This record gives sequence, structure tokens and C-alpha cells, in this order.
Amino acid sequence: MSSPYKALHDNYIANRWSVGKLAPLALTVGCLIALGFLLSIPLLERSTTKVNQGLGDHEDIKMEGNARPVSEEQCRLVLTESIPIHMKYDANATFGTPLYEAWKDLLAVATEEVDVSSYYWTFTGDDIKVKSSTDLPGRDILKLFGDLPLRNVSVRVATSIPSVASNSTDLKVLQKKGVDVKKVNFGHLTNGILHTKIWIIDMKHIYIGSANMDWRSLTQVKELGVVIYNCSQLAEDVHKIFQSYWALGHHNATIPDPWPSDFDTTINREHPLLVNLNGIASRIYISGSPPSFCPAGRTKDLDAILYAIEEAEQFIDVAVMEYFPTSRYKRPRMYWPAIEDALKRSAFEHHVSIRLLISCGQNTDPAMLPFLRSLNALHQSAGSISIEVKVFIVPVGNQSSIPYSRVNHNKFMVTDKVAYIGTSNWSADYFNTTAGVGLVVQQDANHPSLVEQTLQKQLRGVFERDWHSQFTVALSDLGHHPDCTFAERRGDAAL
Ligand SMILES: *[C@@H]1O[C@H](CO)[C@@H](O)[C@H](O)[C@H]1NC(C)=O
Ligand SMILES: *[C@@H]1O[C@H](CO)[C@@H](O)[C@H](O)[C@H]1NC(C)=O
Ligand SMILES: *[C@@H]1O[C@H](CO)[C@@H](O)[C@H](O)[C@H]1NC(C)=O
Ligand SMILES: *[C@@H]1O[C@H](CO)[C@@H](O)[C@H](O)[C@H]1NC(C)=O
Ligand SMILES: *[C@@H]1O[C@H](CO)[C@@H](O)[C@H](O)[C@H]1NC(C)=O
Ligand SMILES: *[C@@H]1O[C@H](CO)[C@@H](O)[C@H](O)[C@H]1NC(C)=O
Ligand SMILES: *[C@@H]1O[C@H](CO)[C@@H](O)[C@H](O)[C@H]1NC(C)=O
Ligand SMILES: *[C@@H]1O[C@H](CO)[C@@H](O)[C@H](O)[C@H]1NC(C)=O
Repeated sequence: MSSPYKALHDNYIANRWSVGKLAPLALTVGCLIALGFLLSIPLLERSTTKVNQGLGDHEDIKMEGNARPVSEEQCRLVLTESIPIHMKYDANATFGTPLYEAWKDLLAVATEEVDVSSYYWTFTGDDIKVKSSTDLPGRDILKLFGDLPLRNVSVRVATSIPSVASNSTDLKVLQKKGVDVKKVNFGHLTNGILHTKIWIIDMKHIYIGSANMDWRSLTQVKELGVVIYNCSQLAEDVHKIFQSYWALGHHNATIPDPWPSDFDTTINREHPLLVNLNGIASRIYISGSPPSFCPAGRTKDLDAILYAIEEAEQFIDVAVMEYFPTSRYKRPRMYWPAIEDALKRSAFEHHVSIRLLISCGQNTDPAMLPFLRSLNALHQSAGSISIEVKVFIVPVGNQSSIPYSRVNHNKFMVTDKVAYIGTSNWSADYFNTTAGVGLVVQQDANHPSLVEQTLQKQLRGVFERDWHSQFTVALSDLGHHPDCTFAERRGDAAL
């Protein structure tokens, strides 16, 4: 498959694997492959033959430096969600672990070091001059962060320039308590922002998800992510991404090209980490953006998404806040059909059933609607193309005094092959200039009781719950929703 970044990627590899390095490399590679093979035997024995088949597909990938990464750990994955207060689902609906609980637990288990990357911090209502008791969980998380240095846990925070929440005092408060903060000037480095939301705890546990370090993420904005416990090899890989931000957190930083080899990874789409996740043989990797922050071996986030779309055979369910087949911030605006084309090709050529659940709130750009309509227009309920687009609206209710909240901020995709959880909106800038990450998980549950515990099944459950909920509205029924900027004036309804 052709990658939009192929040229860049090829240059990287060509630079890195210069002839002079090849001889010692070949020896190392030989050893690593032998070692990788030995280590992989117990895991492969435990798993189904599907793992073997899948690996076989990529046996001839020419990433010379990469032995097959294998972990012997028993990792534990927990799906976490925030559901904004006063959203009433059906009584039988099920949810991921509340994000507030998941974050509290992570901070409680930390004994040595906590590294966090986040766009901005605003854990109190005062920051935006809002009085609401719904900021209490946020205040609590801020306090727990501030307590970490007292327990001799070292805390590092990488955050973005430019940023929002300019009135927040969170980071100053934390710095006074001994937290190490660096502001990474992505505006200068890539013309973008640092949008990655990751936590790494004691080089063992991680959090990845849509939530900003914002009190509203705990009570007012719908979020989705995962915590993965006891997974040091994956944590080390995520740590390399954190480290790439940290290394550039000084005023005259420039992006290295190529990156020093400590930032390289052997865990990627071609060679995912083989690991036991909740008792299930799994393949997992972390993708990154923008491309200039993808050292050798790191799969680009856009490629991760495109591959997942391309390899799907039955269904693709996508839930993202914003979907634009264009750039959003770069001027002049550019048309950007990378994901759009992949989806249409999948529906048209492979007859994959596609559903997109896009967020609409009071701050949503209504210019998105025609693009959603144009995709949905291809849908033929009795025909061979199945692309349905619907809108998810979080009711504002009596929470209207809280700006930039009451939206579905999650970003995930589930197909018949993989589960994907990201941090980026689906528009050009997020993959070209903005720092973000994606988590891709493929699991081979060889027993029916395990199938229900795969991340894929859990995400499908979340998607189905939302798709069939009272909060989801077909494009043709948008007329009566004051909480969504797509709501049509009378007379447009027939369009
Ligand atoms: C939950 O209840 C609703 C009706 O209230 C029903 O339509 C739906 O199928 C139920 N879902 C599950 C998973 O049982
Ligand atoms: C930040 O504080 C300044 C000065 O108090 C105020 O003018 C501005 O509106 C505040 N911004 C926000 C987002 O609250
Ligand atoms: C933190 O480290 C200091 C110096 O090593 C030590 O005196 C203190 O007891 C430690 N505190 C805790 C809570 O472990
Ligand atoms: C991590 O593994 C250790 C030892 O195997 C176990 O005691 C602990 O409960 C695990 N932690 C989590 C959060 O699952
Ligand atoms: C920034 O650049 C100046 C001169 O180019 C150099 O002396 C200084 O050490 C650099 N600062 C950092 C933090 O790298
Ligand atoms: C806000 O609305 C919810 C129901 O939508 C209600 O339960 C709650 O009491 C209301 N709160 C206030 C302060 O009116
Ligand atoms: C996504 O788009 C919305 C609306 O433009 C914006 O508020 C939000 O910050 C964007 N980024 C992410 C990653 O959600
Ligand atoms: C992506 O970034 C490159 C380099 O900054 C730029 O030339 C290109 O136009 C951008 N593409 C889009 C779709 O924004």
C-alpha cells in the first residue's frame, strides 16, 4: 500500500542504514533474530495458529534492525471512559472504568517516576472563571500530582507552546512542589501543537487516551482511553515518545534528522510487540505523528489508520470528534483525501460496512456537515455500498455555563481485525504538524470466554452502545437539536 509519507520514510531508512553500518548490524540482527525466536516459542505455543499466519505475512519486511519484539509479561489492559454528568443511557448500558478512578489508581501505584505529556493543564474551574462543583475530581487529581514529590516520586510534565488555558496556575503550583515542567515549542518546531496525552508510570504502566489534563475531561467531556498495567516493554516504547518531546523542551531546540538511535523503536506495524494482554496473545504497537517525530522504526499514525482501514474485511466503526478531508489550520486550506479515499475504497471495493460517529456540539464548525453528508450519500441501504454517518450530541442541559465542554471528544476505530485508540482529530494537520499517538491492538482470543475481553470487543460494545443511544442522530434528523451547530434552519431539512 502506498503511504503518503513514503518518500520521507524511505529517505530516513536510506540515511540510517548506511553501508558502513551493515556488517556489525548483520551479526547483531542474526543474534537478535535467534533470541527473538527462542523467546517467542512459549508465547506462540499459547496462542492460536492465527498469530503464526499473521507474522508470516510480514516475514520478508526489510527492516534490517528489527528482531521480533516479544514480552513475557502478563500485561493488564483497562478500558477507561468519562461520561459527562447528566447523560442518561439505557439502564442496561455498560461503561469503561471511570477515568477519574483510573487516573487515581495510576497515581496511587506510582513509586518512582511519573512522566506526562499533555497539550495543556487546567484542573480547576478558577482557571476559566467558572464556578462548578463538577471541578472537584479535577482538583483532586491536581492535588494527587502535587503530592507525588512528597513520596519521592519524580514527576516530569511535557506540555505545549502554543497552548490554551493561559490563566491556569496548575503548572506553577506543581513546579513549586517539585514537579519538573518543560514547554515544548511545537509552534516553532512544526507549526503545530503537542496534542499527545500519555502517562508513563514507573516505566511499567501507561495511560493513552483522548483526555486532556482538564477538569472537564472528568465530568463534562466524553473521553475514552486505556490504562495498561505491568507492561514494561510497551512502557519503554511510549517513554521514547515522551523523551523525544522532553529532549526538545528548550528554547532553541531543532528537530534532529535523523534522530539519535536511542529514539528508534523495533515495535511497529511490521513487528508489533507480542505480549499477553488480559490472558490473550496479542500484538500491539504505538504509532506517532507528526512524521518528523517518527524516528526509525516508528509507524506513522496516519499509516496505522490507513493500514487498519485497508486490511478490514467486514466492518469499520469510527468514533471521532472531528472529521475533515481537508487541512484545518494550515493556510491556504488544502483538500486532503487520504482517509476519505481509504474509507470509500474499502466500502466500494471490499464491501466493508462502515459507520462513522462524529461529534457535534455548540463549538463545532458547521463546515464539517457537507463533508459528512457527501460520505453518507454513498450509503445504499439495500445496495452494495455501506457507509453510514451519524452525529453524537452530548446534551448541554443545565451545564451551559461551562465553555468548551459537552462534546464527544473520543477518537477510536474498531474493525474486524484491530482496535485503534488515538489522540487526533481526523483532519490533515493532526497527522502532518501536530504531535499525537495511536495504540493499535490485535488479539487472538482462542476461547469464546476470552473473546468478550478483547479490546476489540469492548470498543465494539462502546460503539454499539453509542450508535443506538438517544444521543445519536441521523443526518436527516438534525432539525431539532439546539446543542449542535449542524441544526438546520427550516427549509434546509430536505437537503
Ligand atoms: C438494552 O435495553 C434496550 C431497551 O431499553 C434494548 O433495546 C437493548 O437491546 C438492550 N441492550 C442490551 C445489550 O441488552
Ligand atoms: C485570563 O485572565 C485575564 C485577566 O484576568 C482575563 O482578561 C481573561 O479573560 C482570562 N481568560 C480566560 C480564558 O479566562
Ligand atoms: C524521600 O527521600 C529522602 C531522601 O532520600 C528520605 O529522607 C525520605 O525519608 C524519603 N521520603 C519518603 C516518603 O520515602
Ligand atoms: C502487576 O504484577 C504484579 C506482580 O506480577 C502484581 O502483583 C500486580 O497486582 C500487577 N499490577 C496490576 C495493576 O495489575
Ligand atoms: C542555544 O543556542 C546558543 C547559541 O546558539 C547556545 O549557546 C546555547 O547553549 C543553546 N541553548 C540550549 C539550551 O541549547
Ligand atoms: C441539572 O439537570 C439534571 C438533570 O438533567 C438534574 O438532575 C439536576 O438536579 C440539575 N441541577 C441543577 C443545579 O439544576
Ligand atoms: C478537535 O477538534 C475540536 C473542534 O475543532 C477541537 O476543539 C479539539 O481541540 C480538537 N482536537 C482534539 C485532539 O480533539
Ligand atoms: C504537510 O506538511 C508539509 C511540510 O510542512 C507541507 O508541505 C504540506 O503541504 C502539508 N500537507 C497538508 C495536507 O497540510
